[in-house]
Amino acid sequence: MLEEELHRLLAEAIAELTPISGQKELEAVRVRYLGRKGLLTQVLRNLGQAAAEDRPRLGKLANEVKEQLEARFVEKGAPLATTQTSDDPARPRTDLSLPGRRVPFGRLHPVTQIMDEVCSIFEMLGFAVAEGPDVELDFYNFEALNIPRHHPARDMHDTFYVNDRVLLRTHTSPMQIRAMEKQPPPLRIIAPGKVYRCDSDITHTPMFHQVEGFLVDRKVSFADLKGLLAVFCQKMFGSTTSLRFRPSFFPFTEPSAEVDIACVICRGAGCRVCKQTGWLEILGAGLIDPAVFRMVDYDPEEYSGFAFGLGIERIAMLRYGIDDIRLFYENDLRFLRQF
Ligand code: FA5
Repeated sequence: MLEEELHRLLAEAIAELTPISGQKELEAVRVRYLGRKGLLTQVLRNLGQAAAEDRPRLGKLANEVKEQLEARFVEKGAPLATTQTSDDPARPRTDLSLPGRRVPFGRLHPVTQIMDEVCSIFEMLGFAVAEGPDVELDFYNFEALNIPRHHPARDMHDTFYVNDRVLLRTHTSPMQIRAMEKQPPPLRIIAPGKVYRCDSDITHTPMFHQVEGFLVDRKVSFADLKGLLAVFCQKMFGSTTSLRFRPSFFPFTEPSAEVDIACVICRGAGCRVCKQTGWLEILGAGLIDPAVFRMVDYDPEEYSGFAFGLGIERIAMLRYGIDDIRLFYENDLRFLRQF
């Protein structure tokens, strides 16, 4: 009786399986026969009522039927899994005619954009570009620039020291020494790069960018420096920009000056960015001190030159009307996407 039922179940399941062409339908039939509450389980429940001597044989038969059925379902299911069939609407289809997904374009950081623009103005004016190390020797950053140990000017730099002799450069001026050591005058060079100072507020960040510029030749004067910087500022900020030179001091230039631009945020009226002065300092400059020329074996009697160091973030702030320098380094995409 039970034996017959098992054979019938197997035959019926195979008959139902044969015409199936969709995965969903196949799964429904599988559950109906082999599921926990399926037909096979119901038949097997009666196994306990069979005579004790028949039970091992019937148990074996039941297992064989189960294995055969499972094998049939697997066999039937494999091709359906890889073939797309018209009667299986739930299955996602690949539409080969759809356009591809676009990869969003990145863009240059505003500081990089300004850096490139500054460099291209000076390149147009005949300056060559040189680059040097961020991790610098004390010798190049200070001593060769006429700032010996214990000189009070070191205090202004808030230096990050690596050890006694090595530091993160606090300005791009060491490039003056490195370039002059390598080649005899005349030279006309700009040196862009990162510099580091332990300093942070709305106009200072611990890492910022400078572009150093220097020119050495016979009979170079302060008027040449003024003329060059005026041309640069007009190209960068427009021909009506006001510019002022303030007397200042750097150990490696004599005379020295700091150059300010009328604050574009308040248009000279005074605001928190320009500390109510109406002006924002963008660079330090001067005629190269004879003591520096002697360090690199240039004859100060024969040659003279000027040098300047521009703060790129300050220029970017003025150009874009940004009132807090730290915004450049917060990596907020809502800010960065505007440039
Ligand atoms: C110097 O660094 C001199 N090496 C410049 C120089 C070069 C003078 C050649 C003479 C000859 P100063 O410390 O003033 O000078 O910095 C130059 C410019 O860098 C400043 O005008 C300012 O625009 C910018 N700057 C200075 N400190 C910071 C800071 N923490 N964050 C952002 N910009 C800064």
